[in-house]
Amino acid sequence: MNRIEQHPFLEVPQRRGLVFYYNQRAVPALEGDTIAAALTANGIRAFRETRKRKESRGMFCGIGQCGDCMMVVNGKPNVRTCVTLVEDGMRVETQIGLGGDSHETV
Ligand code: FES
Repeated sequence: MNRIEQHPFLEVPQRRGLVFYYNQRAVPALEGDTIAAALTANGIRAFRETRKRKESRGMFCGIGQCGDCMMVVNGKPNVRTCVTLVEDGMRVETQIGLGGDSHETV
């Protein structure tokens, strides 16, 4: 994982580890991570794909405002992963377009 584990001034608290699934692949995380933080710590930066142009999108604002980090979580599309905490055994999948709406144009 790609994380800050030591800091010269701040204490880095120990947190319980957990495992979730990204596109059927087991991925380690720490309790208290958002989904986006856990994916980023594991080198995964592309969270969704635009329907028309197949362009990758990932974390942009990081505060739940832009929607670029939306993924399918436990079968539910359009979950903003930057403000959703990861859970043990959670299933997270790359979202294509707007997540199943046949009238989508993005
Ligand atoms: S990165 Fe903007 S809503 Fe998540």
